[in-house]
Amino acid sequence: MSTIQVLDKTFEPYLKEAAIQEKITELAGQLNKDYAGKRPLFLSILNGSFLFTADLFKQVTIESEVSFIKLASYKGTSSTGNVITAIGLDTNVKDRHIIILEDIIDTGKTLHHYLPQLDSMQPASVKIAVLLNKKEALQYPVQVDYSCFDIPNKFVVGYGLDYDGLGRNSKDIYQLKA
Ligand code: IMP
Ligand code: MG
Repeated sequence: MSTIQVLDKTFEPYLKEAAIQEKITELAGQLNKDYAGKRPLFLSILNGSFLFTADLFKQVTIESEVSFIKLASYKGTSSTGNVITAIGLDTNVKDRHIIILEDIIDTGKTLHHYLPQLDSMQPASVKIAVLLNKKEALQYPVQVDYSCFDIPNKFVVGYGLDYDGLGRNSKDIYQLKA
């Protein structure tokens, strides 16, 4: 595999499709066990999580639902000051077991700002499942409950993740070239 160009930046191969799918299969298996009989509601954070959500949800075999919200705090390759809710929740979460699905946790700011809103709707439980966890970049107290990959603090694109809107449509994940 060779490098790809997205706008002004060059990215090199990092996580291959097969490795990503293997981890998602493992995660689905774990969730099928942990949430059996609880009818969880998967809450997917758009835009970045749409492919992760689709691939994971196809492998969830227990009774469950999925819903989407759109939060945004990113511009280019760094977080901006604000978290905005561009599309809100249209599902009643009271007394429901919520599994938040995020493509990546970076500073943790997006979820740190959103979680109190969710808590105020009195769900039975809230857990966070992420595809990628940039552990070293965490600046806010957000607890990740399920993570497919711990990755270093380097910008990545592909498999739903974008750089200024581009690069999402790749089956593999690429890392910014130093
Ligand atoms: P946080 O609020 O800093 O944790 O950032 C979370 C959001 O920023 C993620 O849901 C992504 O949409 C975006 N993000 C963070 N790191 C990256 C990256 O390396 N590539 C693409 N998007 C990223
Ligand atoms: Mg996102």
